[in-house]
Amino acid sequence: METELFVINDIEKDHDKLERAAGLIKNGSLVAFPTETVYGLGANALDGQAVRRIFDVKGRPMDNPLILHIPDMLWLKRYCLDIPPEAYKLAERFWPGPLTMVLKRKSTVPDEVTAGLHTVAVRCPNHKVALRLIRLVGAPVAAPSANISGRPSPTKAGHVLYDLSGKIAGVVDGGSCMVGVESTIVDLSAKPYKILRPGGVTPEQLSEVLGPVGLDSGVLQAPKDSETVKAPGMKYRHYAPKAQVILLMGDIEKAAGFVNRLDRETTGVLCFDEEIPHFKVKYILSYGKRDDYAAQAQKLFHCLRALDEKRVKTIYARCPESSGVGLAVSNRLLKASGYQIVEV
Ligand code: TXA
Ligand code: MG
Repeated sequence: METELFVINDIEKDHDKLERAAGLIKNGSLVAFPTETVYGLGANALDGQAVRRIFDVKGRPMDNPLILHIPDMLWLKRYCLDIPPEAYKLAERFWPGPLTMVLKRKSTVPDEVTAGLHTVAVRCPNHKVALRLIRLVGAPVAAPSANISGRPSPTKAGHVLYDLSGKIAGVVDGGSCMVGVESTIVDLSAKPYKILRPGGVTPEQLSEVLGPVGLDSGVLQAPKDSETVKAPGMKYRHYAPKAQVILLMGDIEKAAGFVNRLDRETTGVLCFDEEIPHFKVKYILSYGKRDDYAAQAQKLFHCLRALDEKRVKTIYARCPESSGVGLAVSNRLLKASGYQIVEV
């Protein structure tokens, strides 16, 4: 299959291209599109057969449900039941934006989307191209991140093409994603409400609306095999480049001393801007200042993919504090590393 590329520079001038992309989705094909978080692989969510194709193409386990993307909060009641008032409060404050809410589902949502769960995850993305595309489709768009399952999520159209070229009908190129990590997922289907996945909307921000809100135990720890995982996607090794990622904790002098003794050709480093001068290996990328979590989130997946292109065998990554958006960055790095940590 040839993958058609729709480059959008100006949403008005390029409207026809978006109409063509929406037409493909309406016909049951898969089209990747930009959101503010990461690129999504979109299908008409009301077409079970189209949704099944997403799982085939990504190599995604069928028990891992998808997020419904809607253009505004008025669509919530078409697909969700028993919506608590807090859901509307959160939508008013954070939508469009990087927040996904898990709510009880209506039977209007195909089983393929929810993997048979009695809940459905819904979000309204803060990206003009995504919102226009969904409106043109005229139905909710089911979209996981547009990568091969397990790989780092795509934050540029080029990342999508690298993983999925020839396997999907189209890619809408709307430039780089601003947030860079996937949306925060909050479960409102049962009390106490809980964060299942950290993202661009922080726990601190959520608690301004919800009061104190818990964090699923899988966010910063490896889930135990016996534990049922609330966001089924979080149990798999995830966000991982081909190289082995190892988190490098501790003082920078010692950390650099440790890495600088390793093979300089096959060892990659992902560090903070101010740490670059300490490292002597060949492939070093920085992803923002130590306390600039937003920059780190935006660059994280791109840097992991870029280090892979250098064919390093191991990537030693410096990990931020887990406060604010730093929590989302640490969570992705932990998952990418399969919880491998070196403490120097
Ligand atoms: O930012 C994002 O959320 C991106 C963009 C494209 O919108 N999408 C995304 O989708 O990250 P995906 O499929 O890569 O991750 C969705 C996560 C998975 O961990 C899945 O298990 C969880 O959401 N999820 C989906 N439906 C759920 C439900 N009903 N209950 C609990 N978790 C759910
Ligand atoms: Mg994903």
